[in-house]
Amino acid sequence: MTEPRILAKDFSFCFPDDDAPVWSNLNFALNPGEIIGITGPSGCGKSTLCYCLSGIIPRHLPGNIRGKILVDGQPIAEIPLPRLAQKVGLVFQDPETQLFCTTVEEEIAFGPENICLAPAEIETRIKEVLEITGMTRYRYTNPSRLSGGEQQLIALGAVLALRPHTLILDEAMSQLDQKGRQRVQEIIRPLKEAGKSLILVDHQVENLAKADRLLHLENGKVFWS
Ligand SMILES: Nc1ncnc2c1ncn2[C@@H]1O[C@H](COP(=O)(O)OP(=O)(O)OP(=O)(O)O)[C@@H](O)[C@H]1O
Ligand SMILES: [Mg+2]
Repeated sequence: MTEPRILAKDFSFCFPDDDAPVWSNLNFALNPGEIIGITGPSGCGKSTLCYCLSGIIPRHLPGNIRGKILVDGQPIAEIPLPRLAQKVGLVFQDPETQLFCTTVEEEIAFGPENICLAPAEIETRIKEVLEITGMTRYRYTNPSRLSGGEQQLIALGAVLALRPHTLILDEAMSQLDQKGRQRVQEIIRPLKEAGKSLILVDHQVENLAKADRLLHLENGKVFWS
């Protein structure tokens, strides 16, 4: 049997000053080529879960954790961040928080440069993700001059450049128009077919039609469908 990319076992998370956990006893296995959709009302903990699954919690945002998250069978906290970033990539809900370089090219090269890839390989990946996201014409543009939707596509490109096996998109379509949403759906299909695993967060269940399973979070409880 293939090992799940991500395994959550009786996982609960509580912010430091809160009495109650954001949600309790979350259990799931995310398998290769599988898409899990996450939905639920504002404040139910969708982004918090994304932070837990990408290692931001508890590294950068502390809190009380119960249970476990394993990535490729290893406790997520034990995986050094540069290695984790090549396994699980998160596109933030607000792309501006993720983009900080002066050109799109630098933004995409940032991750690959940090893991010390050779310049020729970095160039290959820049071209590859610009093509995938349809953003080639913006290679030398300052991301701050792009629309929110275009920034979301650049943030997605920056994450894809590390070729993680699992992609988490936290409301990655929220600022996109119909054409942009279509673009993301077109990006997702071949990724799934290539065996990548995806977690898609969206308020609108209709944007999660590609999901194999849906996780609904509400009032600290988890529901699967
Ligand atoms: N750093 C923090 N410290 C304490 N509480 C927090 C922190 N960040 C978020 N929360 C609280 O945790 C809960 C879950 O927030 P989260 O942002 O994960 O929800 P969400 O489902 O992503 O909401 P939205 O749909 O609006 O994006 C909310 O009650 C929020 O106020
Ligand atoms: Mg959120």
